[in-house]
Amino acid sequence: MSPKHRYDVLIIGSGAAGLSLALRLPESLRTAVIAKAELTESNTYYAQGGISAVLDAHDSVASHIQDTLGAGAGLCDEDTVRLVVEHGPENIRWLLSQGMQFTRNEPADQGYHLTREGGHSHRRVIHAADATGKVLEETLVERLRARPNLDLFEHYNAVDLISARKLGRAEHRCLGAYLLNRESGHVETFAARFVVLATGGASKVYLYTSNPDVATGDGIAMGWRAGCRAANMEFIQFHPTCLYHPHAKSFLISEALRGEGARLKLADGSRFMPGFDERAELAPRDIVARAIDHEMKRLGSDCVYLDISHKPAGFIREHFPTIHAKCLEFGIDITQQAIPVVPAAHYTCGGLITDHRARTDLPGLYAIGETAYTGLHGANRMASNSLLECLVFGETAAADITANLARAPLAEGIPPWDESRVTDSDEEVVVSHNWDELRRFMWDYVGIVRSNKRLDRARRRINLLRHEIREYYSHFRVSNDLLELRNLADVADLIIESALRRRESRGLHYTLDFPLHDDRNQRQPTILIPESYAPKG
Ligand code: FAD
Ligand code: SIN
Repeated sequence: MSPKHRYDVLIIGSGAAGLSLALRLPESLRTAVIAKAELTESNTYYAQGGISAVLDAHDSVASHIQDTLGAGAGLCDEDTVRLVVEHGPENIRWLLSQGMQFTRNEPADQGYHLTREGGHSHRRVIHAADATGKVLEETLVERLRARPNLDLFEHYNAVDLISARKLGRAEHRCLGAYLLNRESGHVETFAARFVVLATGGASKVYLYTSNPDVATGDGIAMGWRAGCRAANMEFIQFHPTCLYHPHAKSFLISEALRGEGARLKLADGSRFMPGFDERAELAPRDIVARAIDHEMKRLGSDCVYLDISHKPAGFIREHFPTIHAKCLEFGIDITQQAIPVVPAAHYTCGGLITDHRARTDLPGLYAIGETAYTGLHGANRMASNSLLECLVFGETAAADITANLARAPLAEGIPPWDESRVTDSDEEVVVSHNWDELRRFMWDYVGIVRSNKRLDRARRRINLLRHEIREYYSHFRVSNDLLELRNLADVADLIIESALRRRESRGLHYTLDFPLHDDRNQRQPTILIPESYAPKG
């Protein structure tokens, strides 16, 4: 029996990566775009600062490359950095051609306003005030809705990939995916000639995160389970400045504030960043987050403060309307007072290994955006390079899929999801308890500052949790929470294992046991291979 859902291209994820790829494919292709929640709910939607690209006559490709390599602390893949940076300006032009509205300079004929963020030696971040992601998502979704041959599925959670090998067939290829229809509660089969994982990052693995609920690392976990290698999973970026307030759910305070002159201060009003790095507030994120963590621990304080109130109130309201309004909701007027801030998990630098055409190890399967490891970010992503990476690899993946259509037939005879051996769960509390425990120990033991002892503790706990989750999964009908928990546990396992393997401190990975770089032995990505995977402990 053939599945009812049959597509040329199945794109799992509707953030910047998935949407831009969908728009770059030929209109004649039958394409599906899947979102786990509403179409726009994604990391992309919440992006504030903007998109980096060489757009100013005084800037250069060489300088953008140099800054990216510098932030990446010796682990970037230089060919990838060059590819992405060189494709930056044309991708911004493409966005403009789709109707994207960026903030203009005053007067408007002076071009687009470019802001600055940590690690960048030039103003090169193009933005839509402080709501770049919202404008981007809404612009691309509107374009997509007008496309023929394209189906949008909201509230569908991809469970697992279907590979020919799993079905016992001789070929080595991805044939589609099983997806949970969250409204009906049934798992549906999608057959596709090409499958693209554009599911974003995994920062929900930590208790405190700037990411929305959908960021549970599903694509990384699915690709890993299907036999794809993963790289650099130890490099989780903690954004230095999220609003500290019991009801703010780690709302991001954009780095662009620091780019426009905001200063980090202690409770007594003194600055501390100049003592940590000559670039002070505009040092790369790993340095700023560690400095804040250090000061909070030294003083036993709950937060530090970010102050932009010395700038004219009109400037602040014009450039940061979203942040200004959000802080006012919590009684903080940023034109008058400093903002209490703390670091929170923000970005997954590692992911499924892909080449320059976004191909993973499994033929027919692509990974783009935060799900992928392309080598662009190395040990620490530079601000606003992520949306650019989504766009560039959306473009290269579309080109590769288009070029290979003739060689990829649609698979027949994929079996439906088998629910014959499972029942409804009678103890949902197991899932919610494990969710909470996992995120808490990841925050405590695998956070901004690590040690062998902390990582070993995390390793013991994740082994136990994964065992429990596996048992639960094999007995009970799948639910959204259970699927996400299983993926979070798989991804946490990859993060812990990669952190244990890196016996040095570099970029976002800082461990008390090996506080220095070890360029001689460790200057290479951490690559985990599913078939030969044997975690420690
Ligand atoms: P996302 O935008 O996260 O989209 C993931 C999609 O996958 C969603 O549609 C989701 O529903 C879907 N999905 C996930 N799992 C499943 C599943 N199992 N089944 C079906 N669908 C699934 N970067 C910059 O370059 N500039 C910035 O200014 C910037 N600001 C940021 C601010 C915030 C608050 C955050 C959180 C991130 C920011 N980043 C920024 C990072 C950047 O936004 C993300 O890395 C980027 O948007 C990722 O895009 P993506 O398309 O890979 O994934
Ligand atoms: C921010 O606006 O500070 C986020 C930018 C990014 O994550 O690239």
